[in-house]
Amino acid sequence: MISVTGLESTVMNASMTSADYRALTRPSGARHVDVIDQRALPHALTTLRIDSTTAAADAIRDMIVRGAPLIGAVGAYGLALSLDADPSDAALARAHALLDAARPTAVNLRWALDRVRARVQPLVPENRAAAAWDEADAIRAEDIEINAAIGRHGLDGLRALPRRKDGVLNVMTHCNAGALATCGFGTATAPLFLAHAEGLPLHVFVSETRPRLQGANLTAWELAQHGIPHTLFVDSASGLLMRRGDVDAVIVGADRVAANGDVCNKIGTYDKALAAQDNGVPFFVALPSPTIDWSLASGEAIPIESRSPDEVLTIVGRGDDGGPARVAITGAGTPAVNFAFDVTPARLVSGYVTERGVARGPAALRALHEPRDDG
Ligand code: MRU
Repeated sequence: MISVTGLESTVMNASMTSADYRALTRPSGARHVDVIDQRALPHALTTLRIDSTTAAADAIRDMIVRGAPLIGAVGAYGLALSLDADPSDAALARAHALLDAARPTAVNLRWALDRVRARVQPLVPENRAAAAWDEADAIRAEDIEINAAIGRHGLDGLRALPRRKDGVLNVMTHCNAGALATCGFGTATAPLFLAHAEGLPLHVFVSETRPRLQGANLTAWELAQHGIPHTLFVDSASGLLMRRGDVDAVIVGADRVAANGDVCNKIGTYDKALAAQDNGVPFFVALPSPTIDWSLASGEAIPIESRSPDEVLTIVGRGDDGGPARVAITGAGTPAVNFAFDVTPARLVSGYVTERGVARGPAALRALHEPRDDG
């Protein structure tokens, strides 16, 4: 057993092929959750136990867990853990602030924390912890249902797409919006998993997604678990692949979508949307409704996370001993910037694939999802 800040880990062989992995599990009745350490993939499949609020905040900040829906679910469990320790109003406020500050961009975190707080705030302290665990479980279960629905609606869209090359549907994706980024199935990957399962001839172009390599490390691993043909490419090759006519569609996830339909997702998404527009390639964004932030009029208001320059100045791979090895890719003292997300204007989005259907434009997204006063 390896102990890391309230996290305990179990190491398994990452080449185990099973498409039913879960990024987050809560053993029945347990007052902790277990998560896959996504920093160790694809070279090791490591699960870590989260049994404190600090451990939950650390796991989000250090990207042991990442992806908007999963960050939200872990945040919810982090709040439940704090109420186990101290159900007072003051402790609830401290825990909410600690978890909310872990990462700024994915709105699902604030959404989940506010939902759990709204559920427990009216309760007497002694009833709060159980209610919080129940709400966190509901958030996890709903996320799986939502992604399954995104899969079904997205599959209809994939089936209808023209295939430019020998009857194979070539889809490009960026970063990881897979089962690992959610509580199950993924968002952008859910239609791909279903398409492959029904025998639709499919091939996926996966961007490496510098600097943290979510595409190379996580999406390629997930596609391999499902036996889906795929090809890795350097981020800057997306334009050429589309210009050559190698790509029939692009599908990505989202961390926050503004009321006007602007989409915030992993850095590099905007470039792919521009290349898609220039080459007439449909550009889809798969998102669960909690990722829509109706309080923001446009994407300009979305907080963009800036992470350590070290993530740009170094790269992590498998060392000679089989373990992770970090190496410098530039000279000492080189300055670097590390914006983790960018904003794609709504005008570049062909469709929003959600649990209620595919919305062809911001107005359709609003019609499908805008909260009604009548609840
Ligand atoms: O920095 P990350 O790995 O958390 O960024 C993840 C993404 O940008 C995903 O595309 C997004 O969160 C959607 S996950 C279903």
